[in-house]
Formats: sequence, C-alpha cells, structure tokens
Amino acid sequence: MVASLEERQVYGEMMAGARQKVLITGVGGMLGTDLAEILKNDFEIIGLDKKPAPHLGRPIEICDLLQERKLRDVMLAHQPSVLIHCAALTDVDYCEEHPEEAKAQNVEATRNLVVLANELDVPIIFFSTDYVFGGTREGEYLEDDTGKPLSVYGRTKWEAEELIRSTAKRAALCRISWLYGVYGRSFPRAILGQTESVRNIRVVSDQTGRPTYTKDVAGAILRMLSEKKEMVFDSGVRMYHISNSGQVTWAGFARFILEKLGRSDVTVEEISSRELNRPAPRPYNSVLSLKKTESALGIQFRPWEDAVADFLVELADTKKKEAAKAQEKAEGDPQ
Ligand SMILES: NC(=O)c1ccc[n+]([C@@H]2O[C@H](COP(=O)([O-])OP(=O)(O)OC[C@H]3O[C@@H](n4cnc5c(N)ncnc54)[C@H](OP(=O)(O)O)[C@@H]3O)[C@@H](O)[C@H]2O)c1
Repeated sequence: MVASLEERQVYGEMMAGARQKVLITGVGGMLGTDLAEILKNDFEIIGLDKKPAPHLGRPIEICDLLQERKLRDVMLAHQPSVLIHCAALTDVDYCEEHPEEAKAQNVEATRNLVVLANELDVPIIFFSTDYVFGGTREGEYLEDDTGKPLSVYGRTKWEAEELIRSTAKRAALCRISWLYGVYGRSFPRAILGQTESVRNIRVVSDQTGRPTYTKDVAGAILRMLSEKKEMVFDSGVRMYHISNSGQVTWAGFARFILEKLGRSDVTVEEISSRELNRPAPRPYNSVLSLKKTESALGIQFRPWEDAVADFLVELADTKKKEAAKAQEKAEGDPQ
C-alpha cells in the first residue's frame, strides 16, 4: 500500500531533520555515478540499476525498470522524495539497429517510473538529449522548440519527453548534450584510447555542439534540489537545458584534448559525417540555449574547455588510484 500524502506529511514532520531520500535510476552509469557522489553529502541516496555497480562502493537496488512489480516494491520500500531518472539505452548506433529495445528502455521504462512518481506524488528529474532536434537551425535551440529527431535514439527520447509533458504531475525535464565523464564510454575516452595505437585520428568536423561534463550536470542538479527547489518540486512540468558553455565541433573537441595532453605527435584529420557513415544520423547543430536555466539557477555554466581540463586531471587521478589498487591486490593475493 502506498502511504497517503497526509500520512507521509506527518512522517515527514516526524522525520524533520532527516535527510531527504533521492532515488537515482541508472546509478551505475556515467551520469548516475557522479550524481550519487555529488549528492551523497546532502541526501540519502538510493541507487538503482539493472546490474551491480561495484565502482560505487555502496549497495544498490538491482532492478530492471521494465519489471513493474519489482520496481513498485523498491519504491514502496524506500518512499523517496524525488526520482532522478538517468537509466536509458544510450548507445545511439545500437538503438538505430534495435528500435524495439530502444523504445522499451527509453519510453516504456520511463512510463513505469512516471506512474509511480505520480502515485507517490514525488517529482521526477528526467534527462533528455540534444538529439531530439533536427540540427538544421542556425542558432541555439530553445527549451520549447519542437523536436525533430533524426535517429531512433532521438525519437525514443522525444517520445519519453512527450510522455512526461502529458502525464507527469511534477517534473524537471533536463536536456543535456555531448555528455562525458570518468565512468563509462564517452568521446574523450574514445580519443584517449585511440592515441594508444594510432598517430592520426579521423574525426567529424560538420557537427557542432556543447560538450558537457557529468560533474557540472550533477552540480546543477544539486543546486536545484538544495537551493532552487521550485525548479523541481513545484507542480507541473518544467524544461531546462544543462550543458557547459561555448560550442565546438567534434574535431575541435578532439584537438583540444590532444593539446591539453601535450600529444603533438597525434594529428586530427577532419572528415564529414557522410564519410564516417555511422548507422544513426546525428544533428549538424545541436547547441542548446542555456539562458533560461542559468537565470533560474542564478549561475553561469563554465566554458567547456575548463570542464574538459578538469576532467582530464580527474581521469588521470582515477586511473592512478585504480592501478595502485590492482597492484595492492596482486601483491596481497597468494600465488
Ligand atoms: N551519454 C550522452 O552523451 C548523453 C547525452 C545527452 C543525454 N543523455 C542522457 O543522460 C542520461 C544518462 O546518460 P548516461 O550516459 O549516464 O547513461 P549510461 O552511462 O548509459 O548509463 C545508463 C545506466 O542505466 C542502466 N539501465 C538502462 N536501462 C535500464 C533499465 N531498464 N533498468 C535499470 N537500469 C537500466 C544501464 O545499464 P546497462 O549499461 O546494463 O544498459 C546503465 O548502467 C540518459 O537519460 C541519456 O539519455 C546522455
């Protein structure tokens, strides 16, 4: 049984001073990991993913969002105050070739979560993407612009957006773009991987966007939840764009990474999207306007170059720590 709103209000009063519970889906992924890390000092985190995430160093709920019954049990057991929905099928080319799976993971899983959020009367923070847009616009895309997705991934995320706009009682719908972080697959990590074996990297130069560090997204969400609560908790659905500022092509992004690493021995060869010939088409321009979110949050997002510089330092640090741990384990293991 779901506790009534009144019951939960009384409970909330009894628990005054207790930390609010935040449930994060896809907590083992790139964004979920940094959200859990950044929010953990101020909130009680309930992590949920469909497989274990040992790198988090904390227990999580193992649950596929498509398992409605199990998901309901998890929600009722924890009664979170807010849901942060990071889980999705994010491999854009895989989605193109597996449209039904993409629809299930990105739309139906979201539907299951929204039903429970409405029932528990808690807000949901949903992450969408710049790939909901067609990319032919000259300037920046605004929150209220109509989606014109080119790919299966973009279409399923747009469908999930529409579902939230039409059914969620309380939601913050946050579009993010060109996301990268220390955990998981991302463009900077792919570039770094390539430098280990090749001296010439072919990168597309006809797509422009705003690279975004997971830590900066997590920082914006922390601010929403702690200082700008109305952005999340007010009734209705609000749309926000979150990314670092500035804009660049993928080739420019790659060149900047190599420059920062002092890898003048590796060159970037500019190619067109047509030459790269990936299964899923991508928008040529997917620069998201940040004005509305910056004004609501009362901050300015930092330039993408500063965020990438921090990311490279943190990545090197993390790799060093992982290597030291592996060494320790090897030395401690009996022969
Ligand atoms: N990555 C980007 O460039 C980008 C750009 C714009 C917006 N976004 C959006 O930002 C959000 C976070 O992206 P991300 O890159 O952090 O994702 P990610 O690294 O792919 O992590 C997603 C996590 O969710 C899990 N998951 C997927 N389906 C699930 C289900 N049905 N039930 C439970 N767990 C499930 C995944 O498990 P498996 O790995 O086992 O599938 C994975 O651990 C997503 O909504 C994405 O659409 C991402």
